[in-house]
Amino acid sequence: MKVLFVASEAYPFIKTGGLGDVAYALPKALRKLGIDARVIIPKYSGIPLAFKNCMESIATFNVQVGYREQYCGLENLIYDGVPYYFVDNEYYFKRPHIYGDYDDGERFSFFSKSVLESIKYMGDFKPDIVHCNDWQTGVVPVLLKENYSEDVLYNKIKSVFTIHNLQYQGVFPKEVLGELLNLDWKYFNDDAMKFYDAVSFMKGGIVFSDEVTTVSDTYSKEIQTPFYGEKLDGLLSARSANLHGIVNGIDYELYSPEVDEKIFYNYDIKNINQKVKNKLKLQEKLGFTVSENIPMIGIVTRLVKQKGLDLIVEKLQEILSLPIQIVLLGNGDGYYEDIFQYHASIYPSRISANIIFDAALAQQIYAGSDMFLMPSLFEPCGIGQLIALKYGSIPITRETGGLKDTIIPYDKYTGKGNGFSFKNYSGQELLEAIERSLDLYKDKTSWNKLVQNAMSSNNSWENSAKNYLELYSDLIK
Ligand code: GLC
Repeated sequence: MKVLFVASEAYPFIKTGGLGDVAYALPKALRKLGIDARVIIPKYSGIPLAFKNCMESIATFNVQVGYREQYCGLENLIYDGVPYYFVDNEYYFKRPHIYGDYDDGERFSFFSKSVLESIKYMGDFKPDIVHCNDWQTGVVPVLLKENYSEDVLYNKIKSVFTIHNLQYQGVFPKEVLGELLNLDWKYFNDDAMKFYDAVSFMKGGIVFSDEVTTVSDTYSKEIQTPFYGEKLDGLLSARSANLHGIVNGIDYELYSPEVDEKIFYNYDIKNINQKVKNKLKLQEKLGFTVSENIPMIGIVTRLVKQKGLDLIVEKLQEILSLPIQIVLLGNGDGYYEDIFQYHASIYPSRISANIIFDAALAQQIYAGSDMFLMPSLFEPCGIGQLIALKYGSIPITRETGGLKDTIIPYDKYTGKGNGFSFKNYSGQELLEAIERSLDLYKDKTSWNKLVQNAMSSNNSWENSAKNYLELYSDLIK
């Protein structure tokens, strides 16, 4: 079976969020199951030179974008056993950042068209499935059906579209249909890409792909309701027979306290007592009081509303009056950056606000903290809580999306569970969950049991990859 995984980012070449992790780890896990999975992404200028130097050119051709013919270079390299293809065009991809430009609609129209044309130049690799991800690739299934259904190279190819985050939809003026995608006005229709008076690339992916997936079972149900549905809940309900929730995993070759080179001391479930040394070092690094017994809460996140930061802000005074240390890492909305920085300047012994992107510090926080706070408003899957589990930092989460599917509230009577959670989007419930965790922390025996439960939770990619394999197999039967 051959699968072309189409994404707008992939670790270790370029990554802004969880999608980049998935685009690395899932194809790798699929290959272990015997699938010939390959990845195609844009060749952004931000990809490190060391990788660019290893790329080999496969073909150059032109791609039609509206009335223009644009150059497209197809390059490739193999990384960790996975073949990667890169779509080269400096006009579109030589930019200081990868998203957020006025012409993103055009950039990803070009990319999507290039992906489909590239298949002609992949030699023996004739995909059975194109697996697209998020709005940046949403028009691939549309164009596949519209332009290639008569072509023998393409007409058996099935498409899968995965929603990583329904909030970002790629909504553009309706004129892009003709001016960029060379599509007819018939696509400006409620059953096609029309979204109010505009067109939605996300909607294109949902309507025209053969199967739709999202990254947890709970999120797949939530997005069929108005609160989480981002105005596509009706459509998603209509497609529910073809909508599947497959939870993401994490790659334990990258994220394991036994082997992680970024943390101060390595440890594993058999010597959990080593974990505390990471806390002492981290306290020193952050300028906190160095003490084993002060519980430390980690927060590693993009600073955006999705992550439930409003609940933390609402109760920040109360949280900071608890006997704890909080270490926050991440950047994003200036509003949140300012609030956390302000409080860190007033309460430096209670909160350290690191408004940066720092991969090493992130790992040191997972290893050094006792609890990991992630009270998201919505969370398609979430990766932070999965890393936290593996590093024995106990997640405190809201029961939504992937958080609900991966964090089982600790039950002190049965000793089961791997974290603390709360249901409603309420600051009070968040505060109470933090207090419950602090209570249990005082009981070292129970706490250690909980840490063991967390560290032995299995969220490897293996299980998820098997679910994708099953989905692909049904599709090409
Ligand atoms: C998005 C979602 C996150 C998910 C990730 C990978 O970033 O917000 O919940 O884990 O995609 O699927």
